[in-house]
Amino acid sequence: MDVFVADYAGFCSGVARAVKKAEIAPKPVASLGPLIHNPQVVEKLAAQGVRPVASLEEVEEGRILIRSHGVPPQVLEQARAKGLEIIDATCPFVRRAQELAQELASQGLEIIIVGDPEHAEVRGLVEWAQGKAKVISSAAEVENLPQSSRRAVIVQTTQPQETLQAVVAALLPKTAELWVYNTICEATRRRQEAAVRLARQVDIMVVVGGRNSANTRHLAELCRNTGTPTYHVEKAGELRSEWFAGAQKVGVTGGASTPAWIIEEVVKMLQHLSESIKEPKTPEVGVER
Ligand code: F3S
Repeated sequence: MDVFVADYAGFCSGVARAVKKAEIAPKPVASLGPLIHNPQVVEKLAAQGVRPVASLEEVEEGRILIRSHGVPPQVLEQARAKGLEIIDATCPFVRRAQELAQELASQGLEIIIVGDPEHAEVRGLVEWAQGKAKVISSAAEVENLPQSSRRAVIVQTTQPQETLQAVVAALLPKTAELWVYNTICEATRRRQEAAVRLARQVDIMVVVGGRNSANTRHLAELCRNTGTPTYHVEKAGELRSEWFAGAQKVGVTGGASTPAWIIEEVVKMLQHLSESIKEPKTPEVGVER
């Protein structure tokens, strides 16, 4: 069984930058929510003094680290009002989407955000749009929208390109003037394209990353949509040899929040499984002397 790793698998520049900022920040430091959607990395950082907190209420003094998903403007104001030192690791791609949301809202446009309404990045974008945005997660939801003379679309940075295209196609007949800002980040687009390319060439795909990571789940879904059986695992220990029985080629990719060491462990385990699922040798027959 041969194991192939997709291009652009694992940490993107935004996540690498956030982890670096956390590592070099004076400790202790509180991170507003787990720094990235990967429990193994969050655990490692906690051991170094990076404490995840659910809200600013839990931080009375010291430093607060803003993760790559960004936060609503009100949270930054509250942190400043409390006198906290802000270490802002908002990804520059997310920052661009926030600035667009703010600018489009100030022009009085109806804003559609394509994304997961529960995701922290999207909740932040709604606030940057001064609460004037509607969140749409699929083309089917466009049916409930009325006709409009003018709308602007922005998109969660880690959404699949296909979702944006489908929502835009559904909006066109309902909107006289439609402004589309493709805020999907380059890293996501490249990672998804490379994963799909590899999925089409292998027998089984393994997607590595936190189950709470939206971009990892999207990646697994895109691979599955190619028709290739796809397994989403968080770590090497979850791999099962029976998944690979009869497979000649296995592809591996990882979400934006999956560190290289976890991907390497998965590859090593696959190579190990590959040895153990080889045809058993015919037992040697004893020869009488
Ligand atoms: Fe930024 Fe894209 Fe990563 S938005 S955090 S570079 S997935």
